[in-house]
Amino acid sequence: MIETRLEGRTALVTGASRGIGRATADVLARAGARVIVTARDQAQLDTVAAEIGHGVRGIAADLSRPGEVDALFEAAGPVDILINGAGVIQPIAPVAVADRELWWRNLEVNLYGPFLTCQAALPHMLEAGWGRIVNVSAGVASGRMASWSAYSAAKAGLETLTKVMAREVGERGVHVNVVRPGIVDTAMQVEIRGTSEELFGRENLERYRSYKERGVLRPAEHPARLILWVLSPEADELNGEILAIDDPETAAKIGLTPIAR
Ligand SMILES: NC(=O)c1ccc[n+]([C@@H]2O[C@H](COP(=O)([O-])OP(=O)(O)OC[C@H]3O[C@@H](n4cnc5c(N)ncnc54)[C@H](OP(=O)(O)O)[C@@H]3O)[C@@H](O)[C@H]2O)c1
Repeated sequence: MIETRLEGRTALVTGASRGIGRATADVLARAGARVIVTARDQAQLDTVAAEIGHGVRGIAADLSRPGEVDALFEAAGPVDILINGAGVIQPIAPVAVADRELWWRNLEVNLYGPFLTCQAALPHMLEAGWGRIVNVSAGVASGRMASWSAYSAAKAGLETLTKVMAREVGERGVHVNVVRPGIVDTAMQVEIRGTSEELFGRENLERYRSYKERGVLRPAEHPARLILWVLSPEADELNGEILAIDDPETAAKIGLTPIAR
């Protein structure tokens, strides 16, 4: 495996106050990129930036708000690498009873947010003739999980958005891909395990609780490694692809084995 170095590149990582986004910011900063971390709480971002070091900067924004996204990119300056890691899971509830506001909010954060950040990042990338965007999706984009309608629909939309963008900008040096990170030991999993049986179903709840008990959740550093690989010279031709970490071929690229659950 060739080592990936990102000196001279500026990377903006969303959802970087914790979990997969934070781990990704850490990996990219160690690879030499100038990293900007974003999420909603400035104080938390300042802590993350200080903990990672390497000149990481934190700029707060609610990614579902166009004005805040524009202000974020204005403060960040030109961005060469955009990692869309921010995400929310709620509402976990069957469609028949799902809260309408939470349902719409999910799409605003998980789908409209990445649309806004991509739109803000593209002018510089296109002008430079080089850019990389990684959108963090989820296996449930296929629609296999009951009670996750908003999340799954938003992630399916994000994957389609990725493929459309790849066609629009791929030939101009800007590559857009998806990473599906597997089931990862983050605050989002704590939230899932805390759902009521009534809303999530007993079997689903027991399954997700057992992942934690059996120690089969991935550390956030694993998807961060896959995201770094997408930015590597080996992946230079990759555009419009969906990379699932638990796909054996993909896992092997970063020296991991798929986790059987
Ligand atoms: N964990 C898993 O098993 C798993 C599996 C598949 C896919 N994923 C995906 O991986 C990504 C990261 O998930 P995670 O597990 O690391 O989740 P997490 O620990 O809950 O972190 C979510 C991040 O998103 C940020 N965020 C939420 N709403 C936001 C908003 N409106 N504006 C800006 N930032 C916002 C949060 O920051 P603030 O709340 O501080 O703003 C936080 O930094 C998500 O896209 C998720 O869907 C996770």
